[in-house]
Amino acid sequence: MLNIPELKGKIKHSSIAVLTSGGDAPGMNAAIRAVVRYACSYGCDVYGILRGYSGLLEQEFVPLGLSSVANIIQRGGTILKTDRCEDFFKKSTRKEAARILQSRGIGGLVVIGGDGSFTGAHLMEKETGFPLIGVPGTIDNDIAETDDTIGFDTAVNTAIDAIDRIRDTASSHNRTFLVEVMGRSSGFIALQVGMGGGAETIIVPEKKQSIEKISSTIQRGMKRGKSSSIIVVAEGPKPGLSYHLANDLTQRGYNCKVCILGHTQRGGSPTTHDRVLASALGASAVAYLLSGRSNAMAGIQNNQIKLVPFRSVIGKKKQISTPLFKLSQILSS
Ligand code: F6P
Repeated sequence: MLNIPELKGKIKHSSIAVLTSGGDAPGMNAAIRAVVRYACSYGCDVYGILRGYSGLLEQEFVPLGLSSVANIIQRGGTILKTDRCEDFFKKSTRKEAARILQSRGIGGLVVIGGDGSFTGAHLMEKETGFPLIGVPGTIDNDIAETDDTIGFDTAVNTAIDAIDRIRDTASSHNRTFLVEVMGRSSGFIALQVGMGGGAETIIVPEKKQSIEKISSTIQRGMKRGKSSSIIVVAEGPKPGLSYHLANDLTQRGYNCKVCILGHTQRGGSPTTHDRVLASALGASAVAYLLSGRSNAMAGIQNNQIKLVPFRSVIGKKKQISTPLFKLSQILSS
């Protein structure tokens, strides 16, 4: 059962703002809706900031009330739009951001995003004392100290749907398909999708596999009558890794095709799981902020909402599950 932190006593801020930053993720709108409606329930004013930190610096603020977040819980993307703001790496820029917020009478900020967005938030609070709380939103699920991130479940389900379709054509043509999924430098999506889609092999950056090993896994399947295979590949730092693998496998005589799912995984209507997670995390972020907490992320651990200091989150590598990876290898044999 999800817990929402209790807000006791007088609220610390009468006006807060919310922004989405970094890559968008399905469920971000549900989080924005929760931030607005939960804050409004305490009589707090809420402002949406467009295009992440870039819009903050360019003062793109919109007042958000109960009705302005109606009919968005089911929508993918982010109504606030998003951006990756290189300028926010500068101390002077972060100082200017805090000044802008204070000049508008805004007492705290909710940042919905990933590791890079939290790094900016952490530095800004450290340097200026401006109160900030983060909400983990990324399809990659690569944020430390939270079991889940907004958008991961939807992205995984989108990819599984694609794999089920690819299997039909792969088996009709006796082909080996390399299906490349997102996950900048982590294999969370690949492992979940590979496991759920019954992939013959899963390639993730965390567990290096030689081309010989991949080839021998396909061979083993062929020996017992399999005519097609699905290999799920995590894209890694740059999309296109699966083309290199496909070349190597083709040279070894396999009939290979590549399908890069790319940004299809970032769009679409969020799953119920992501909507509920986003609602709980968005509301919790507000509860923490209004009770005077700051410089931390509202995360989820063992189905309980937890406030985790940014310093324990940012730059930390979250590990994929080795037992799950091993199990996927046993079950695919
Ligand atoms: O961090 C989320 C993510 O979707 C990664 O999986 C992917 O590598 C990256 O963003 C793509 O970023 P962009 O949309 O800027 O190309």
